[in-house]
Amino acid sequence: MDDKPDFIKNFERPKGTRIRKIRGRYYLYKEKCVYDKTTKKRRKITECMLGRITEEGFIESRHREKPAEVPPDPAIVAGEEAPGREGSAPLNERKEAAMEFRGKVAVITGAAQGIGACIARELKKEGARVCVIDLKDNPYFVGDLSSKETLERFAEKVVADCGHVDILVNNAAPLSKGILECTWEEFEYAQRVGVTAAFYLTKLFLPHFSPGASIVNISSSRDRMSQPQTESYTAAKGGIAALTHALAVSLAGKARVNSISPGWIDTSFRVYEGPDASQQPAGRVGNPLDIANMVLFLCSEKAGFITGENICIDGGMTKQMIYHGDWGWTLSER
Ligand SMILES: NC(=O)c1ccc[n+]([C@@H]2O[C@H](COP(=O)([O-])OP(=O)(O)OC[C@H]3O[C@@H](n4cnc5c(N)ncnc54)[C@H](O)[C@@H]3O)[C@@H](O)[C@H]2O)c1
Repeated sequence: MDDKPDFIKNFERPKGTRIRKIRGRYYLYKEKCVYDKTTKKRRKITECMLGRITEEGFIESRHREKPAEVPPDPAIVAGEEAPGREGSAPLNERKEAAMEFRGKVAVITGAAQGIGACIARELKKEGARVCVIDLKDNPYFVGDLSSKETLERFAEKVVADCGHVDILVNNAAPLSKGILECTWEEFEYAQRVGVTAAFYLTKLFLPHFSPGASIVNISSSRDRMSQPQTESYTAAKGGIAALTHALAVSLAGKARVNSISPGWIDTSFRVYEGPDASQQPAGRVGNPLDIANMVLFLCSEKAGFITGENICIDGGMTKQMIYHGDWGWTLSER
């Protein structure tokens, strides 16, 4: 049964385009014919979203990206020509060929600065198209993760712009306040940013994950140990760590879901000396690349057998046993 509305049936679709229905709305996508070296077959892929088709007419996308911004997949040759070009490719083509996430769509929360911004940079370097949501100014989407409606608008924009999602990194930092000062509203806000947003974005993107999709949740070594007066943050980190293994099981066959628990990461890449560095079994404080490198690994095919796992990247701090008077550790009592 053809249940398309009349304005879609009557829409004169230009050659080389396809109409896709996403969350009840109709979008026009540019298509291209590609040759897939792996399957040795031609197939059509959607290249970019051109705009939305409404009863009132066609609305051109303001977020339209030039296809050239997504580097071509070396396994895929655009156009009608079959493979078999002789000779080696120029250096920049070979560089593009080496990009691990070429053409993949990565969604990262809280990536206007810090660890999230570093993850975004590293994924972009490897060819991914990155969609960021943050309270702070950023080129893609400014919004508050604690709002259900904002998450829905954000997810809708990502799907309309990109058509699918390959990578979701739930990274935004929840509020940290302790039992003495934290109000009901603040505690709840921390859980919404730190846990509920990760849950709800996963749910919203569920129908749009590509085969081989990967979700990485950023927890903290505080999911397993604490300093005083950190309850709102620590509860959110415990929540996102547990959410990870629940989702890994529920999403089996659809997406791998892992979490990373960073220790002390200096987001300005400052190099510390003295006890700040030497107290850590790894001999230094961490930097955002320590986390971004693991995100890229977990999202790659090399990590295809890893799901539901937590990787603690803390220079070994959570592994050392501390007793006053042993091995140079001293407690100064107040
Ligand atoms: N830096 C560390 O030492 C460390 C250690 C353990 C865990 N982590 C975790 O790593 C992640 C990144 O940490 P970071 O140090 O880069 O943090 P950061 O504070 O530098 O950046 C966090 C980003 O999240 C955004 N954000 C916060 N609330 C938001 C909301 N409601 N809506 C949208 N955006 C929001 C902020 O605007 C900011 O850009 C966080 O989850 C953090 O808890 C960091």
